[in-house]
Parts: sequence; C-alpha cells; structure tokens
Amino acid sequence: MTDAEDDARETRATEQVVTPWDVEGKDGGGIDYDKLVRDFGCSTIDRGMIERVERVTGVKAHPFLRRGMFFAHRELDLILDAYERGEKFYLYTGRGPSSESLHLGHLIPFHFTKWLQDAFKVPLVIQLTDDEKFLWKDLSLEECGRLARENAKDIIACGFDPKRTFIFSDVEYMSTPFYKNMMKIAKCVTLNQVKGIFGFTGESNIGQVGFPPTQAAPSFPDCFPHMFGESKTSLRCLIPCAIDQDPYFRMTRDVAPRIGGYKPALIESRFFPALKGESGKMSASDATSAIYVTDTPKEIKTKVNKYAFSGGQLTVEDHRRLGGNLDTDISWKWLNFFLDDDQALAEIGEEYSSGRMLSGEIKAKLIETLVPICQGHQDARAKVTDAMIDEFMSTKPRVFSSLFGDMGDVAGALDEATIANTKPGIAIGAPEDEGLVKKEQDKAQTGEDGGQMSKSQQKKLLKEQQIAEKKRAKEAAKAAAQAQ
Ligand code: TYM
Repeated sequence: MTDAEDDARETRATEQVVTPWDVEGKDGGGIDYDKLVRDFGCSTIDRGMIERVERVTGVKAHPFLRRGMFFAHRELDLILDAYERGEKFYLYTGRGPSSESLHLGHLIPFHFTKWLQDAFKVPLVIQLTDDEKFLWKDLSLEECGRLARENAKDIIACGFDPKRTFIFSDVEYMSTPFYKNMMKIAKCVTLNQVKGIFGFTGESNIGQVGFPPTQAAPSFPDCFPHMFGESKTSLRCLIPCAIDQDPYFRMTRDVAPRIGGYKPALIESRFFPALKGESGKMSASDATSAIYVTDTPKEIKTKVNKYAFSGGQLTVEDHRRLGGNLDTDISWKWLNFFLDDDQALAEIGEEYSSGRMLSGEIKAKLIETLVPICQGHQDARAKVTDAMIDEFMSTKPRVFSSLFGDMGDVAGALDEATIANTKPGIAIGAPEDEGLVKKEQDKAQTGEDGGQMSKSQQKKLLKEQQIAEKKRAKEAAKAAAQAQ
C-alpha cells in the first residue's frame, strides 16, 4: 500500500486486495499467496527450478530465492531454456518515485535484481515512473522528477554495473520507440479490460486509466535502441518484482503476441511485511510500519523494539514453556530476508521457537542485522555522484555484445564494417533483423530451414502457446490446492 489515503482506510477488506497501489489481506489478516497464485494464474517456483537456476548460472541461489521469498514466476522456465540454448535476455525492473527515501521492502527487488544481473551476466533497464506517481499522488510533476533522481541514487547504491544498466525516468525518456510501443499496446486494451485488471472506476483520472502501457512497454527491447537495437524480438525480457506489479505484466503478456513481441517472463516476490504485522506490505507513508534505508542505528533500535510485532508469549514463564510463534513474529520474518547465514538463522529459529530465546533477544538479533545493512547502503549512496547518475541515464549507444557474458574488450572485437554501418543512436553491433532470435526458434519448432513461418503456422504456434499457458495455470492451481 503506498497511498496515505489508502493507509487511512477505515474498513477492512472482506476479500484480499492486491493491486500495484493497494495491498491488504482479507479481514486485516495476512496475504494468502496460494490464492494470489491461483487468481493471477502464475506458477510457483519449486526446488527443481531453484536448482536449475544454480546449474545454468553456476552460482548458489540468492537467499531470497532459496528461502522462497521469490516464490512465483511466469515462464521463467522458458528464459532458462533460451539461456541454455545460448539466447540472450535482459532484465527489467522499476520504482515509482513517491518518497525521498526507500524502505527496506523496496531493497528486496533491487538486491535480487543485482544478483540476477551478476549471475546471468545480462543487461538491465530500470524504469522510474515519475509520471505514475504524479497521476496517483498529490505531488507536482517536477517534484516527481526530483524524487526520481534521488531514488536513482539509492538504486545505484545497490551496486549495479553501469556498463550493463540503463536507468530512465518516463518523463525524461519518452523516446519515439518507447512511445510507439505504448501506442501499439494501448490499442490492444479496452477500458473494460483495464477496469477488470486494475480496478479503475469512473472516478479514476484518465491519466491513470491510460498509464498501464507505459509500464508495459519496457518489456520490449526495441524501446531501448541505444542498448538493444531496433528489433522487437532480439531479446527476451525477465522482470523481477513483488507480486503487486503482476497486473501490469499480465496485461503485457496478453498483448505481446499481437504486437509481435515475446511475452515478458516474471520472477515475483512475497511482500516484505510491515513492522506492525503481516496484513499488507510495508508502506513508505507510515513511519511506524517501515524502516527506511536512511534510518540511523538509534532509529532502527527504537522502531524494532517499539513496533515490531512479537510472536512471543505474554509472560516469561509462558514463553519458556510454549516458545515464540514463528508464524507471526516479525523479527523472525525479517531475519529470514536479511540474515544471510543459513546456520545462524536456523539456530535463532530453534532457540526462539523452543522458548530459550526471548522476544527482546530476537529483536536484538534483528537490530544487529539491520544496522550494517542500512549503514552500508548510506555509505554507498553518499558516494553516488551526479556524474554517475548521468552515466546510468545516458542514451549514448552501447556495444551490444558487451552487455552480455564476461566483459572483455568487445568493441575491439567488432569488425570495422559493423562499427562503420551502425546507425546513429543505435547500439553498436545490435541484431538488425526483426525476428532474428525468433527465426532461430521457429526453425527449431517447425523444422523449417530458416524460413519465416506462414500465417497459419504462426496462428498454430500462438494457439499452442495459449494452450500450454492454460495448462500451466491449471497445474499450478492443482498443485496449490493439493498443498493446502
Ligand atoms: P514501487 O516503487 O511501489 O516499488 C518498487 C519495487 O519494490 C517492490 N516492493 C516491495 N517488494 C517487497 N516487499 C515490499 N513491501 C515492497 N513494496 C514494494 C515493488 O513490487 C517494485 O518491484 N509501478 C512501480 C514501478 C515500476 C516497476 C516496473 C516495478 C515500473 N516498472 C517494472 C517492477 C517492475 C512502482 O511504483 O513500484
């Protein structure tokens, strides 16, 4: 939940609500993620898939992945298949710049995206939706632009590689190909559809109703000609985010084949819960529910001790006898996100649930884990200069091949003709041919010798993809029902 007015909702939702702007459990309770997966039609990530990620990257899975924080996906298997075949993909994530500083929940997708970028050695685009925040919040467009640059500092402080990363604000980067994609997407989606997907009403302003294509468009690589060239199918796209952003990309995936692009794949996290309990996600507009990356050690200590919901018992005697409740204890939940050491975490779980560790003691463990994370972030942010932000936001053409794999002197490896033939503003050495990768795939799928598919073959493939997707959604629903 990000809007102050939403935080002030007096009534409890009688059904759980999860939209990009509003997250609330049923009757004020926790989020039912199994239900979300069923309702949204995404799939859960199982142990086999985590092991496969480790196998193809040769890197141990990030704690957010091995501990199930990133728990759902859409077609991550296809990304892994393609990666194994040597095909390329890029990462896309974002931030709505509505506040001066990020809270710990916002760090989750960015820390995880940094890990994905390093593990797969792929490029990344990061969208700052200053326009979205202008439309939804009581903020001027200029203020949203300023916040976008402030938030860019926090994002850069997460350690992204400037050579492989492009950060852009919508207002600043409304380039022609970006706008073209937005228009193509907008034409495919009706008002009734966005009402159904996002819950827009007659009271929504028309900027809000028209906004979803803006967040959808960066799923297609030709929005970034200086990075990826002009082909819509040169690369697949993988989007890491919390599951609140799923509606945008459900819509995008629906539209993708109709505008000639790949459906973006997603890897989605649970919400980092609020300090006061698990009914929603942490909100930047409620200081008692959030710890900000700018908080001092003293502020962290005071907030955790005062507000962190405890699963401990009311008296020490009861606690020693019954133990702490790991299902509700926020310190325990937060440690699961931020304490990297698996063994130390398991010991705390054992000590606390058996009653040997008291509530104040688990809170002390949490404080000692969070303080260096926030201080490390503040130190890294202090080193981010204006020139660094400009470098990340630069639209200077990049050398396409240098965005992938191990960095080498790739520019030197390109032949002179390639460099000489590069169009102004277009990535050097980017695939020119619309459908280059797709053709390869079509070849694999149809057995044709490199020829384009006929219209009926394309139709057949689309139909097959739709059937496979329905089947996957059904299987996910069945697995979730069995797990209950
Ligand atoms: P925003 O600024 O609300 O959130 C930025 C990212 O943080 C995730 N997030 C959380 N993750 C875990 N626990 C939480 N409590 C929590 N709160 C927020 C969000 O899911 C998001 O990934 N419209 C978007 C910006 C955007 C975007 C994107 C996000 C544009 N393009 C592509 C993801 C992918 C927004 O306002 O995010």
